Amino acid sequence: MNIRDENVLRELNLYPLWVRRDLPAPEEVAPVVAQAEARVAESIPVEPAAPVTISRSEHVAVATDWAGLKQQVRDCTACKLRAGCTQTVFGVGDENADWLFVGEGPGADEDAQGEPFVGQAGKLLDNMLAAIKLKRGDNVYIANIVKCRPPGNRTPEADEIATCLPYLRQQIALIKPKLIVALGKTAATSLLGREATLGSLRGTIHDFEGTPLLVTYHPAYLLRSPAEKAKAWQDLCEAVRLMSARD
Ligand code: URA
Repeated sequence: MNIRDENVLRELNLYPLWVRRDLPAPEEVAPVVAQAEARVAESIPVEPAAPVTISRSEHVAVATDWAGLKQQVRDCTACKLRAGCTQTVFGVGDENADWLFVGEGPGADEDAQGEPFVGQAGKLLDNMLAAIKLKRGDNVYIANIVKCRPPGNRTPEADEIATCLPYLRQQIALIKPKLIVALGKTAATSLLGREATLGSLRGTIHDFEGTPLLVTYHPAYLLRSPAEKAKAWQDLCEAVRLMSARD
């Protein structure tokens, strides 16, 4: 194992290596992945698709191509968030990615730089990606539920989410990811269109309009509660297995 891998695992509280009997060590992900199809079928409950209930925004006509959509988001003043932020934060990465990670909304660093997850939580997200051999921009796209920073980093309100969601929905339609990973409760409940606890949403394959969706902890929460990183690691392993089964 090289120093970089060691550092990634240290960040996730997984180094020195410990192995729960039912969980693969990080370097064992590849062989585990080889058995993925059977295990996915056996171990992860699949939730039947539920209709999305957030619908206030359905009337908004959204551009259907990348250039038009980016312009539309840049120009958007449809909710009160735009007046309080520096710039919109559209999303970043491979526009044909298999993996889509969705957070809540830009924080101060993202608002300043115009890119999702570039602050402390972003560094942890990059390390989480590295732990499963992924890299920002390389078969990975990162976006948020809302494109404008909520004041004081508060949770986006229901009307702000409903107004912004068509943009993300269109990003998803254009990317056509094989898997969506919702980071935290706001991302998960906004995409699923129903209220639930994060704990109740983890460990199940959900459906977002035909695309499988898994739920894990938000990196900012993991920074505050590092003991939960092991559970996030478990979620990432399930994501790798599921992706492998979709190949
Ligand atoms: N938190 C998020 O949910 N998204 C970001 O882009 C940064 C922090």
